[in-house]
Amino acid sequence: MAVLRIRTLPDPVLRQKAKRVAKLDDSVQKLIDDMIDTLHANSAVGLAAPQIGVSLRIAVIEVPGEEVITLINPLVIKRKGERVLGEACLSVPGYHGEIKRSLIVKVKAQDRQGKEIRLKGEELLAQALEHEIDHLNGTLYIDHIESPEKLFKVEPVQEM
Ligand code: NI
Repeated sequence: MAVLRIRTLPDPVLRQKAKRVAKLDDSVQKLIDDMIDTLHANSAVGLAAPQIGVSLRIAVIEVPGEEVITLINPLVIKRKGERVLGEACLSVPGYHGEIKRSLIVKVKAQDRQGKEIRLKGEELLAQALEHEIDHLNGTLYIDHIESPEKLFKVEPVQEM
């Protein structure tokens, strides 16, 4: 178990399309444990493997008061609605932006035992699902910003 260093822009790993996880072996299980430690150490809601320099399709999400969700090879299967909200990311320190996200997000993934899971997220979970799955495709929330005045320079706020 270890807290790993967060990669920030312009680290190219953040812009790569991460690879599918083929086998949930011991090294992947250790990586997931380290990601959860790193999530907690940063008081973050979510963390994707590219953010700690590993280009694999793994994300962990912890909505306050809920259990940690581990997503392996997640895929958004449905999005519904639209809303404008504030967002930030540990990999883009010092900024906060305003973007559009879906109201409801349905995701298919595997859990850390390899079992297929389906999730329906609303509110913060919907936002976190879209944010973290974006990371696996090399997309950052700043890519969704429609005009420069929607990006603000601030002290780092809650990471998605
Ligand atoms: Ni992020």
